[in-house]
Amino acid sequence: MNFTEIETLEEQFQVATYAKMNIAVESGRGAWIWTSDGTKYLDLYGGHAVCATGHSHPHVVRAIQEQAEKVLFYSNLVYSEIRARAAEKLVSIAPESLTKAFFCNSGTEANENAMRMARLFTGREKVITFTGGFHGRTADSISATFLGKYREIGKPNVPGHVAAEFGNIEQLRALADKEYAAIMLEPIQSMAGVTEAAPEFFRGLREICDEHGIILIFDEVQTGVGRTGNWFFGGSGLAGGVEPDIISLAKSLGSGVPVGACLLNEKVSADIKTNDLGTTFGGGMLAMAAVTATLEAIENDRMRENITEIESYLRERLKEIEEVVAVHGKGGLLGIEFTENCKPFHTKLLENKIITGTSSKPNVLRLLPPLCVKKEEIDLLIDALR
Ligand SMILES: Cc1ncc(COP(=O)(O)O)c(C=O)c1O
Repeated sequence: MNFTEIETLEEQFQVATYAKMNIAVESGRGAWIWTSDGTKYLDLYGGHAVCATGHSHPHVVRAIQEQAEKVLFYSNLVYSEIRARAAEKLVSIAPESLTKAFFCNSGTEANENAMRMARLFTGREKVITFTGGFHGRTADSISATFLGKYREIGKPNVPGHVAAEFGNIEQLRALADKEYAAIMLEPIQSMAGVTEAAPEFFRGLREICDEHGIILIFDEVQTGVGRTGNWFFGGSGLAGGVEPDIISLAKSLGSGVPVGACLLNEKVSADIKTNDLGTTFGGGMLAMAAVTATLEAIENDRMRENITEIESYLRERLKEIEEVVAVHGKGGLLGIEFTENCKPFHTKLLENKIITGTSSKPNVLRLLPPLCVKKEEIDLLIDALR
């Protein structure tokens, strides 16, 4: 089928709820995708922040193929070696205090479960999140999302969600008390324009949570799984060494096979009883094969080291672009701030066969490339921006 035929068919049979680029993806490898007409695009948006290992990494593909030959699925009603190994691997790279995994299917589901665990643990209902944070589109997560129109389209909202200003520890100190079950945040607010907070903010958060018995949740759907050059934001220098009680994950975790997870500490996990949490598909064999292989690929190919080098290189080279006033973020989660609205840059880059992302800040263009992106590929971005 040519592009027009694909577009017509998809528009006819799929609900029109996405703003799409005018391309149809047919295949991918590393940081590149090929479209239905054979054109090659450099994907610096990493398949919507999902393909951290690059498109169709051979190690991940092989693991999925081999698992598919054995058994595609059985739920948590049975034990499974592939699930046991995925959980072990994930916990082995997590901050030290996070010792248990709960698998689900997406980022929003991971956040819903994280908030449920906090409510079960504390016996309280209210949750603090931050203006500009995005946590997903199901009822509780969208109610926790104080960004743009999300809470509006998610009405009626789940009660008990309160917003605070990201980075403002004094305001939070005045707000937080023993009525709150959780404080949940994106440690780098991606969609808000790659907004960062200082390590002292995270230390302050930990203190406040400890003082009032509040559960601290890092939504690492974007920052997790090596994205910042650290396995996780939690526990890293970026967080001032602070380890949250729960980390929620999705996106990169399965290299494109849908999978989400919560990592939790002993305090929270000890309190969870049979049937408190559950999902049919969470921990399915195919997804578990993808998780283990994703983590192995990042490790074997030294992708965290690579993305740290790429960040320095990109920051240096972006100095050549007059219209760039600042670069926000860390590793492979970067916001390039322009002197003016970045939309024309985004459009022109796409015309030049380079995919990037926008954000809710008009001047900030977002990059979420595969962690294996190469310097020569960054050069193509700089040439195109010129
Ligand atoms: C930080 C963050 N949390 C949660 C979500 C929701 O994830 P999902 O779309 O897998 O439900 C997203 C998705 O973009 C996200 O960026």
